[in-house]
Amino acid sequence: MQTTTTYIALLSALSFSAAAQQVSIQAPQSATANDFIEVFKQLSGEHPGVRKGHAKGVCALGSFEPSATAQARFDTPLFSDQAPITLRFSMGGGNPNADEAANAPRGMAVMFDLDNNRQHKIAGLTTPMFAGKNPEQFLGLLRINYAIAQGEATSADRKAYLEANPEAARQGEWLQSHQPAAEYTSANYFGIHTFYTTLTNGELQAFRWTLVPKAGETLLTEQEQKNLPKSFLAKRLSERLKDGPVEYEWHWQLAKEGDPINDPSQVWPKDRETINVGTLKITESGGESCTPINFDPNQVTDGISTSQDPVLQIRSPAYAISYGKRLQGQ
Ligand code: HEM
Repeated sequence: MQTTTTYIALLSALSFSAAAQQVSIQAPQSATANDFIEVFKQLSGEHPGVRKGHAKGVCALGSFEPSATAQARFDTPLFSDQAPITLRFSMGGGNPNADEAANAPRGMAVMFDLDNNRQHKIAGLTTPMFAGKNPEQFLGLLRINYAIAQGEATSADRKAYLEANPEAARQGEWLQSHQPAAEYTSANYFGIHTFYTTLTNGELQAFRWTLVPKAGETLLTEQEQKNLPKSFLAKRLSERLKDGPVEYEWHWQLAKEGDPINDPSQVWPKDRETINVGTLKITESGGESCTPINFDPNQVTDGISTSQDPVLQIRSPAYAISYGKRLQGQ
């Protein structure tokens, strides 16, 4: 069983060589979208034509029904009416053959097709927090993981890095203490970043979202983790949908004064007001409906805006590079 626990880093079984990164317990001073595309390639190898992150995944289709409370409280076309949705469930990392039983983040991305050709996109993880308060901390961690895989650093270097950058350790600690879900649709998914919405009184409200399966979470046992094949989640999803749709509640947690807005390594207190803004119903899976979609979570509809969280901000150029490459078969 894989024990490496940070986003993408688990996929570090390498059979190629590349220039060594300098090992440092300091996070790098800068991190660009291209730096991430490069380190993903180093960690997972080159896989032309597929996503450079979350390379392994499955498409799904369904619909979204907004709640009356969401319609009453928020001024956004996201909640005007029922909307078709296109989804993609995925394994974190750039390896299209990732081990799905690993203690690793998984992803759920949704595109809402709203009236008047509007779209809204979200893409979250099964962990409530991210592996770093900014892109630099995350990049430093990925580079250490790569250096370890190359035999150029040790787990002691990694420990020292995480001690110097404790925010980068939180996601890994969470993954170590939580079993992965038994199915793609039996996990909670967290939006992690802060977004803003317009209230019906015109004020801006900061929020973070979670998708919660109505049937509850089910987790893999340690025994199952040992015995399962590398790929079982897409099959379980299509079998599950033969019994009928799977439903998710979409919860929005509203910020209070002082809650960290731009730090995705920190979760907000549980007692914040949380509103069920509607139900996502998943009806079918498989096919290629999600393949041409760039699920950039900065592509939001009217009445929703993004925060200045630097991790959220860098996702746009990283996804655009990945999108451009895969459309060209690179
Ligand atoms: C520095 C931070 C990050 C970088 C550089 C990064 C990079 C990427 C890249 C390059 C892709 C492939 C995009 C495509 O080809 O369409 C991707 C996919 C994805 N990422 Fe990230 N990501 C980051 C942070 C996050 C965070 C914080 C989350 C969740 C809150 C997240 C969730 C996802 C999901 C769910 C997908 C799959 C989307 C799909 O199915 O198309 N990522 N990421």
